[in-house]
Amino acid sequence: EKGGWESFMDKEIHEDPAAVQRTLLGRLDAHGDINLDEVRIEEHDFKAIDKIIVIACGTAAYAGQVARYAIEHWVRIPVEVELAHEFRYRDPILTPRTLVVAISQSGETMDTLMALRHAREQGSKVLAICNAQGASIPRESDAVLYTHAGPEVAVASTKAFVAQITAAYVLGLYLAQVKGTMYRDEIQTTLDALKAMPAKIQWILDTQTKTVHAAAAQMADARSVLFLGRHVGYPVAMEGALKLKEIAYTFTEGFAAGELKHGPIALVDEGEPVVFIVPPERGRDVLHAKVVSGIEEVKARGAFIIAVAEEGDRDAQRYADIVFWRPKCPTLLSPLVDVVPLQLFAMDMAKLKGYDVDKPRNLAKSVTVE
Ligand code: F6R
Repeated sequence: EKGGWESFMDKEIHEDPAAVQRTLLGRLDAHGDINLDEVRIEEHDFKAIDKIIVIACGTAAYAGQVARYAIEHWVRIPVEVELAHEFRYRDPILTPRTLVVAISQSGETMDTLMALRHAREQGSKVLAICNAQGASIPRESDAVLYTHAGPEVAVASTKAFVAQITAAYVLGLYLAQVKGTMYRDEIQTTLDALKAMPAKIQWILDTQTKTVHAAAAQMADARSVLFLGRHVGYPVAMEGALKLKEIAYTFTEGFAAGELKHGPIALVDEGEPVVFIVPPERGRDVLHAKVVSGIEEVKARGAFIIAVAEEGDRDAQRYADIVFWRPKCPTLLSPLVDVVPLQLFAMDMAKLKGYDVDKPRNLAKSVTVE
């Protein structure tokens, strides 16, 4: 079943490109409109939506955080992302014009299920982004957008994450179409850029695996690793940190890079490994410069720096001890590639430490208790 791979995690990371590709399949109808065929919420109800609340846990919540940047930019409505277990117990403000988006790979996460029930009781519509066909969460939702990542066996979520981001982006583009917040050709261009992502992920798998492996070998004994990112790189940093702590049991923290000077920099000492997600240099130039200045700050304190950066990024080349290269792509789509070396990195670290990467201690694939 592992199809020749050493572990399910190995196999599933290598299915990242296919997961994105399959999740994009058939989303355009004959008229060139985005068509959410599994979604049964009336178009006029979608038009009326004035707020989105994403509810999810763990990796699925990070996918929601990534999507937030894109959806707010494209659709111009506020998007909140909340851990389902926190959302449920704080008397959240929900109206019939709020769209609640429940993201879940398994579709059985009890925290997320309870939160979605609460949202529906309050009169909000719930759309599920789910990988497991016919699970409780899609069954109890008003609409479903399935991710077509295929069954995910390894406890640590990998291909489902990239598929969740993809599905949430398709939803965002659909809303932009319905609400008229983007021109048709802009929607088309963005969709085309999304369709180009599987090949870019494949490029990472084909060319960066050795570098990642060497980095893991160098860092297997690290007591802790910090992950920093900004904008869409922030949830990617959180996800990279979660993967590593979850399967390699290394103490990790993910931070917003802008927070460094507000506290976390105190943790940085000689040799401390710090992973930076460096945004592309063009377009959002300011972001690039700010992240690079963060790198300089920690470098000056002797940190060991790994950068995930765009091919040709001279600052990354200059300051980082190791660079995981990403092919050029739009900033908003970069999480789809940036997370891949971090998934490989966590897996390699866990293997080097002799752990079962598919079945980390204390964890279950789906958490069916609150
Ligand atoms: C991390 C991981 C968990 C899940 C979380 C939600 O690798 O697997 O954080 O993402 O438990 O699970 P689902 O998506 O099934 O609701």
